[in-house]
Amino acid sequence: MRVFGGEYFYRAFMNNRPIGIFDSGVGGLTVVKEIMKALPNERIVYLGDTARVPYGTKSDQTIKRFSVENTKFLKKFKVKLIVVACNTASSIALPVLRKRFNVPIVGVIRPGARKAVKVTRNGRIGVIGTPTTIKSKAYEKEIRSISNNKVVSATCPLFVPLAEEGWLNGNITLDIVKKYLTPLKRKNIDTLVLGCTHYPLLRGVISKVTGRNVKIVDSASSVAEEVAKILQKSGKLSSASKKPTHSFFATDAVEQFVKVGGKFLGKKIEKVRKVILN
Ligand code: DGL
Repeated sequence: MRVFGGEYFYRAFMNNRPIGIFDSGVGGLTVVKEIMKALPNERIVYLGDTARVPYGTKSDQTIKRFSVENTKFLKKFKVKLIVVACNTASSIALPVLRKRFNVPIVGVIRPGARKAVKVTRNGRIGVIGTPTTIKSKAYEKEIRSISNNKVVSATCPLFVPLAEEGWLNGNITLDIVKKYLTPLKRKNIDTLVLGCTHYPLLRGVISKVTGRNVKIVDSASSVAEEVAKILQKSGKLSSASKKPTHSFFATDAVEQFVKVGGKFLGKKIEKVRKVILN
């Protein structure tokens, strides 16, 4: 039998375990940023699979394999919950991961889709993402499972390199955004889901093109709300009083991760460790 004190410390130990987050690269740091904002006491272990980015153009089979390997790595840290911050991996690999790993796993599709259904007024929702995310129709299925809304989607492959290069405004970026989003605008959408980790960085120029009447839904902040809700409901919020120390891992190009990642996270990343997955 456990005595009260033991029970207390056991629960504190379990609750103070970190949240594991993975993405194909630096993009998932937009999700980390929102989670840090919503849950400042939670410790985060982040893995960016920079050796194999991008996922957005790869096959379902490959994305599933990479996602399993990433999850295995995060499990080593005894994480209490895993966030698949990558929209592409969330579109394809969630069922496989949930079947295989005994830990709560949160993807980015459902929170983004639910938020879009909540904010649309005319029932016409635009979704943009990588080719694999859009091909999977993951957002569309999720939105259609809870509403009769119409979904129109588009792939925006050039947004990822633009965000990584830091070309967040200027004429070239504006022209590219116009080229991708004008057909969606013509379909009279009133809500646009940013279905890719990188797109929140381009939010300014995107809303310039879509105009004031189109509400932008960023899955990053919706995911943070969802994670907070799950931890609260299950009584797993961290009770640590010290500022948490986060850990960042990348499968390659750590210097680049530090340089570009800082823009995505909105603050300097002090240390990134390189890992080889197996
Ligand atoms: N992280 C990916 C996503 O959110 C974008 C980058 C990639 O293609 O790997 O879909």
